[in-house]
This record gives sequence, structure tokens and C-alpha cells, in this order.
Amino acid sequence: MDKINCVAPCLMGIEKLLSDELKFLGASDVKAENGRVFFSGDKAMIAKINICSRLAERVYILVSRFDAYTFEDLFQGTTRAPWERYIEKDGEFPVTGRCLSSDLHSVPSCQAIIKKAVVQRLIKHYHTDTLPETGALFKIKFLLMKNNVCIMIDTSGEPLHKRGYRALSNDAPMKETLAAALVELARVRSNHTVIDPCCGSGTILIEAAMKALNIPANGKRSFAAESWSLFPAAIWSEQRKLAEERIKTDSAFKGIGYDIDDNALEICRRNAKLAGVADYITFEHRDIHDFSESFERASVICNPPYGQRLADIETAQEIYKAMGRVFVKKQGFSYTIINPDSDFERCFGRKADKRRKLYNGMISCQVYQFFKNEQ
Ligand SMILES: C[S@@+](CC[C@H](N)C(=O)[O-])C[C@H]1O[C@@H](n2cnc3c(N)ncnc32)[C@H](O)[C@@H]1O
Repeated sequence: MDKINCVAPCLMGIEKLLSDELKFLGASDVKAENGRVFFSGDKAMIAKINICSRLAERVYILVSRFDAYTFEDLFQGTTRAPWERYIEKDGEFPVTGRCLSSDLHSVPSCQAIIKKAVVQRLIKHYHTDTLPETGALFKIKFLLMKNNVCIMIDTSGEPLHKRGYRALSNDAPMKETLAAALVELARVRSNHTVIDPCCGSGTILIEAAMKALNIPANGKRSFAAESWSLFPAAIWSEQRKLAEERIKTDSAFKGIGYDIDDNALEICRRNAKLAGVADYITFEHRDIHDFSESFERASVICNPPYGQRLADIETAQEIYKAMGRVFVKKQGFSYTIINPDSDFERCFGRKADKRRKLYNGMISCQVYQFFKNEQ
């Protein structure tokens, strides 16, 4: 079994970025759809993507994909799939999933049908009457969308945005994968200076530093497939070793984080240490109204407060106005700001040079990019 079909879900709006990342990591047959990217690779590639991807939410093995209009279609399609290739005789295989815009819309019924079909297939294959489900965990996930079902097994376990460095966070931390996407959009390179003037728990700067230093996003955590006999320990240790060898030790990267919340700044320092990038980032108390920089070049990446209630929105909009004043057009400077407020550009005082829709959790946002410097 050389080539395994896989699918990696991602935040809506970053499918193209994830496709490029997967190709860069060496995946084949890369194809993006809404909120997910299909690809194929061998076992080593699956381990590598779990360890190195900054943008994927998980890596699923795509066991089967077919059209299902009736429960019979779903049952027959599921039994035809080669479950014994992945699930061990004593493996535990809970089934969860979602039905969207499909004739079959009862999630519990689809779960039960898929479970029954997998049980039937495994019982036949392993010549047994019962499956104890006392062994390794093979979480089956299905997504039935427009009468087409993908049935998958999760190789990641905890979602991949859980890198393991954020032991502590402030009130509104952003997902590590979203921060990594902003870093990608801002085209951060290993010799860049990156400034986050509202750094919160420091996620953007930590992701920027990890990218600049080529530190694997998930080099320090474990994955569900590590306990499967299909993925021997040597595959994981080899991929971790190779990823560590690619870490840059001569990077001129500099990260600078400001915030008015001293507690958040303390959290930043601890998280940066856990991520192994504390030597590359400084965190300082500073109000965005006092933002000014003496650097020749820098990428400013920022997730300012959104404001939920009316009074908060007014305060937030004052901050956007201040940003418009202090984020001056300057050769070598670019500004990448994520925000849900449809009035952001009016408050900021300039039209963005580039805009892109992204979601921060359930909140629909725009990423505004300012990089043209002519007055
Ligand atoms: C949405 S949070 C940023 C979250 C951050 N991206 C993270 O992942 O943790 C906004 C941050 O802006 C900070 N902030 C609010 N007003 C500020 C101001 N006037 N100057 C600088 N920072 C400010 C808040 O303390 C908060 O930490």
C-alpha cells in the first residue's frame, strides 16, 4: 500500500494556501474543495504533513468516497471499502459526522449505518463473531454533502492547531492555523521583522517565528496514528528528525509584540518559550496610539479588538482610526490586518490594496492588506 488517499480540512478561505503548502511538503494529487484539500502520499508523507503543516486542521485517510441517496447506498458503499487495511482486529472505531444539503439528513442514522457496515466488513475479514474495540483508536468521520459522502479515518487525534505551545491564552486568542495563514499572506521570510501591535497571547508572532526558523508546527506533539501498527514508530521518529534538521539556526528574524494588557504580555513570553522562539521575539507594553517604528523594513500583522457590544464597537473603531494614523505608508513596510467590521476601511482611512475573506472561528472577517507606498 504505497499511495494513500487523504483529505485535510482547513479554515474556509485558506484552501489555496494549504494546497501550496501540501505541494511544497511533497504531497501528490493535490486538489482543493471548500474547506478541505484532497491529496495523496505514502505513510511517511502522512506523518510529515501531521508534523509540519501549519495550515491543515487534521489529516484524514480518505477510505471511501461515493454518492449515497439512500441508507442502502450508504451501507453498500461503506462495506465495499477496505476497512481492514487500517483498522486492527481490536481497534476502537467510533463514528461521527455531518450531513449537509443531502437526502440523508439524520446524522445518528448515518452513523449507525456506517458503524454496522464497518463491523460487518471487519467481522468477515477477521473471521470472528465479535470485535472487542479495546485497542488503538481509529476515529471514523463522515461528511455527506450534496449526496456525496467522504468516509475517513483521523490520523491526527487532537486538531493540528493544538501545537502544544499555548499552555495559556488571553480572552480572544486566535487559532494557530489562522495566525499561520496571516503569516503566509504577509509573505514572512526568515530574515523579516514582524510586528504585532495588539499581540494578545502572541500567536501571530510565534507562528511567524516558527515559519521563519522553519520549526515544524507540530514537532512536539503526538498523533493518533502513532499508536496504529500500520504506522511504525520509525516513520514518526524519522520524520521528526528530518524536520528538526531543516530548522534554521542562522535566521535574522525579529518579532516585536505590543499590547496594553500586561497579563497577556506575560502569557506571550511563556508561550514563546514553550514554542522555542523566545530568543527571537520581544514583548513590550505599548498602546497602539503610540505606535511608531524605526525599522527600515517590517511586516505588521495585527488582529485588533473587534468589539461585540455597541460601546465596545465604538472603542474598537477608535483603535482602527488610530491604526490608520500610525500605520504610515513607508517603503519596506506592509500591514496585514484581520477584522470583521464592514466599516474598517472607512475608520482606517484608506482602501486596502488587497482584501480576502477568512473566518476567525464563526466570525466572518476580511484580511486587509496595505503594501503600496506611493502617497
Ligand atoms: C483580539 S485580541 C488579539 C489576540 C491575539 N491575536 C491572540 O492570538 O492572542 C486584541 C488585543 O488587543 C489588545 N488591545 C486593546 N486595545 C489596545 C491598544 N489600545 N493598544 C494595544 N493593544 C490593545 C488587547 O489587550 C488584546 O490583547
